Amino acid sequence: MVRDYRDSHISREKSRRYEEDIYRKNSYDDALWWWEQGLLKTEINILKGQINSISALDFGCGTGRITAVVEQMVDNSVGVDIADSMLEYARTKLTRTELIFADLTKNDVLKGREFQLITAFRIFLNSSPALRHEILTVLAPKLTCDGRMIFNMHGNIWSQRVFTKIYFWLRGHQLNTSSYRHARHMIVPHGFVIERFYGFGVIPKIFYRIFGARSMYALDRILSVLPLMKYISFDLVFVCKKS
Ligand SMILES: C[S@@+](CC[C@H](N)C(=O)[O-])C[C@H]1O[C@@H](n2cnc3c(N)ncnc32)[C@H](O)[C@@H]1O
Repeated sequence: MVRDYRDSHISREKSRRYEEDIYRKNSYDDALWWWEQGLLKTEINILKGQINSISALDFGCGTGRITAVVEQMVDNSVGVDIADSMLEYARTKLTRTELIFADLTKNDVLKGREFQLITAFRIFLNSSPALRHEILTVLAPKLTCDGRMIFNMHGNIWSQRVFTKIYFWLRGHQLNTSSYRHARHMIVPHGFVIERFYGFGVIPKIFYRIFGARSMYALDRILSVLPLMKYISFDLVFVCKKS
């Protein structure tokens, strides 16, 4: 069992599983990614309408999933991760990104540099409260006043995730969850406010397996634009700015 989330993706096998199993074609996470990509592009385009030049930092960039989309749309792109095995995948995909192998919470090699866009996907849900605090402490001074930080929480407690959590709990295991309120409490002490947030994934994950990812995705897309549905969606994406 990994005690510190920092060590969670260090092993080669974990990195391989992340790239080839979790994000295998038509998996549930792959479907979430179809939706996240569109959202990221929309948000970067909004930001481009407000700011002339964008330098982007992808914190915990891992295999470069998010960075690969971001680097195509911004002027400068930096990705940082503590797991070299994850960065190995990123190096094969990224063409315009400065990749840094470091733990910024321990050694802030980007001290003094500022970014108009900071992304942090699939980082906070499974990090301990202490690590979340350390990450936000190091990221906050790096975001410009007119910049945006975009992050996700892929485990909203008020979604289908609650049933998985109960299932785990009955077996004596813990499953991490989050919510809009939880995310807000996490970022506000660091001088951020949520400008807007989105949600995707109302249909239970198992339906994707039974009925196929494409059809369930189409249904979830429709649900995602209905009012209030984001509150009961599995994957929450937050767009934040400095308060
Ligand atoms: C689940 S992966 C997400 C990767 C990528 N952001 C994505 O969404 O595909 C989490 C990543 O965060 C990295 N990580 C965890 N703690 C970190 C830290 N203190 N500094 C840099 N990276 C860290 C891990 O090594 C891992 O690659």
